[in-house]
Amino acid sequence: MTTSEQQAREEELVARVLASFDGTADQRLRAIMRSLVTHLHGFLRDVRPTEAEWRAGIDFLTAVGHMTDERRQEFILLSDTLGASMQTIAINNEAYADATEATVVGPFFTEDSPHVAPGGDIAGGASGEPCLVEGTVRDTSGAPVPGARLEVWEADADGFYDVQYDDDRTAARAHLFSDDDGGFRFWAVTPTPYPIPHDGPVGRMLAATGRSPMRASHLHFLVSAAGLRTLVTHIFVRGDELLATDSVFGVKESLVKDFARQPPGTPPPDGRDLAGASWSRVRFDIVLAPARTGGPHVPPPRE
Ligand code: BEZ
Ligand code: FE
Repeated sequence: MTTSEQQAREEELVARVLASFDGTADQRLRAIMRSLVTHLHGFLRDVRPTEAEWRAGIDFLTAVGHMTDERRQEFILLSDTLGASMQTIAINNEAYADATEATVVGPFFTEDSPHVAPGGDIAGGASGEPCLVEGTVRDTSGAPVPGARLEVWEADADGFYDVQYDDDRTAARAHLFSDDDGGFRFWAVTPTPYPIPHDGPVGRMLAATGRSPMRASHLHFLVSAAGLRTLVTHIFVRGDELLATDSVFGVKESLVKDFARQPPGTPPPDGRDLAGASWSRVRFDIVLAPARTGGPHVPPPRE
C-alpha cells in the first residue's frame, strides 16, 4: 500500500511529464506521447520494479537492438510475440462483411517471387508432401475478382524458408493471378510447423516464460487487386496441435482449413504424376474488402 504522500508524488510526476508535451504542434504526436506516458507510468506504478529490474528491462531492449540488422528484425519479432503485431493488424483491417481475416506477414516475404501459371507448382524443389491449393477471390458482394495477384510462400518440410539457407535458392514461394472467374489453383507443399528465430533475446524471453517458439503450420498469402483492400494472411491446418499456442498469436478460427490427406496412389484432378506419393488438398475462398475500409471506421453521412 502506498501512502497518500507517496501517491501524490508519483501522480505529480506523471502530470509534469504529460504537460511537457503541451507545446507539441502535431496533435496526433501529442496524443500518442501522452498515451504512451500514461500507460508507461501506469505499468511502472503497477509493477513497481526495483532499479535493477528496470535496468534489466533496458538491457533486454538494448540486446533486441543489437540483434537487429538488415536480415534480422528482432523488434518486429518482439512485437509479434507480445501480440502487438496482431493487435495492430486487427485495428487496421477492420472487420467488414465476410472479408477474409488478416494475420502477420512475418519476416520471410520477399519481393520478386517467381511467377507460376495457373495449376503450376510453387515448390521449386522444396522438400515436402505435395499439396493442391484451390479457391476463388471474390469481393464482399460475391463478385469474382479476376486478375488478383496472389503471393504465396511457406517453409519446407524441414521448417525452413528458402531465405534461411546459405545458398541463393528460391523455393516454396511464387505469385500467380486469379482467372476470369476469380479462381486459382496451384501446387505447394503441405505446411509443417517450425520455430520462429529464437536464438536471440526474444527466444530468451520465450524460454524464461515457458513459452514455445513454434508456429502452427501455415501457408502465407498476400492478395491484392485494384480497388480492394490488400490482404495479408495465412491458412492453417485443422488438427494441428500448435493452433492454440502459436507463438505470434496469428491463428484465427476462420483461417483454419481442412487439408484433406490423399492416400498414396490417389490420382490428382489435373493428372499430375506424383509417383504414387501421398498428397493433400485444401480449398481457400478469399473475400477482399473494399479498399476504403482500411482504417478506423467512419460512418457514411446520412442521406
Ligand atoms: C512467419 O510466419 O514466417 C513468422 C511470423 C512471425 C514471426 C516469425 C515468423
Ligand atoms: Fe511463416
